[in-house]
Amino acid sequence: MGRRPKRLDRLPQQYFVALLGRVAAAAAKDGPPLVDLGRGNPELGPPPHVAEALAASAARPDVHGYAPIRGLAHTKEALAARYRDVYGVDLDPEREIALIPGTKTGIVELALALADEGDTILLPDPYYPDYPSGPALAGARLETVPLRPDEGWSPDLDAAPAAAALYLNYPSNPCAVCAPPGTFASAVRWAERTGGAVVHDAAYIDIVFDGRAPQSFLATPGAKNVGVEMWSMSKTYGMAGWRIGFVAGNAEIVERINTLNDHARVGIFEPLQRAAIAALEGPQDSVAARVAGYERRRDTLAAALPEPVVCEGTFFVWLRLPEGLSAETLLEEHRVAVAPGEGFGPSGAGWARLSLAVSDEAIETAAARLAHAFAAVAA
Ligand SMILES: Cc1ncc(COP(=O)(O)O)c(C=O)c1O
Repeated sequence: MGRRPKRLDRLPQQYFVALLGRVAAAAAKDGPPLVDLGRGNPELGPPPHVAEALAASAARPDVHGYAPIRGLAHTKEALAARYRDVYGVDLDPEREIALIPGTKTGIVELALALADEGDTILLPDPYYPDYPSGPALAGARLETVPLRPDEGWSPDLDAAPAAAALYLNYPSNPCAVCAPPGTFASAVRWAERTGGAVVHDAAYIDIVFDGRAPQSFLATPGAKNVGVEMWSMSKTYGMAGWRIGFVAGNAEIVERINTLNDHARVGIFEPLQRAAIAALEGPQDSVAARVAGYERRRDTLAAALPEPVVCEGTFFVWLRLPEGLSAETLLEEHRVAVAPGEGFGPSGAGWARLSLAVSDEAIETAAARLAHAFAAVAA
């Protein structure tokens, strides 16, 4: 076999694969059952009409061939209607929406579509651990812009350097805040000043608490001229395993993603698209029920912790650990798995991300163990 291409060696260690391994090893040890708040994997699937649409479509004889390479028109129209009705954004479904197999794919493909070798991609710090992978494959350099906790985890983009692309993510994984006012407008200004593109990851757009309204980057004046938004079925509808997502916004960037798709994929199985349409166009009460569940679990965790918890959206809590308490201690001594903050960028050290996408019972057990762990180090 020939030499392994350098681009594979550039890939960082996959954070979640490594984390799953450590958690499984700890779970196998003697002790009370482990509570796993490490990984963000929706605990509840989509409402029944979605799986029914999948089954009804799969029962048809004429859907098993190759689906249209760039997606059914109806799938993209359904997302365009969502953007119009809920986020106040007009999108041309054919030119401004690309269908992709989950936004994790989009994270990588957008780096390939926006950066040449040696170009720079700017990430927020803290960032979602999968972000460095696309730049690594593209041969791009990474720089970070710090998110400032005292300013609602917003970056100072007026002072940020030029780059081929800037990734942002609100509601933020891991910081669990919605975009502070002015953040999206400053991203458009950054792009206009530097010529770089903005990629906004809206994976948790609908998972917002305390009566907040979902907020799209594309609703910002000028946004469509400079960037795109990734939109996922995974969190809004609990369809993470289905692998459907979208890239929406700037027509040139959408066309680049479609071009990659023309070569690397052959559409998405039609019954999956029919189910996505059913989710987007059908009753939406499951979304509010899902959000209420996460909000309830956030409150349970918050009540057990000594410091106030800021959690405006997503299904995570981003927690600064007190002196003497680490993710490792929580796992080994208190049987609570959390995602160690170190994986979320240089500023993540000393922090941990806790998932709310588990049962109420798991959160109650975790809350009691965390209260005990915090009290033990305070004593
Ligand atoms: C911030 C963020 N972006 C993207 C993704 C990937 O989502 P998808 O299931 O659409 O690939 C996740 C999944 O956890 C995420 O947390």
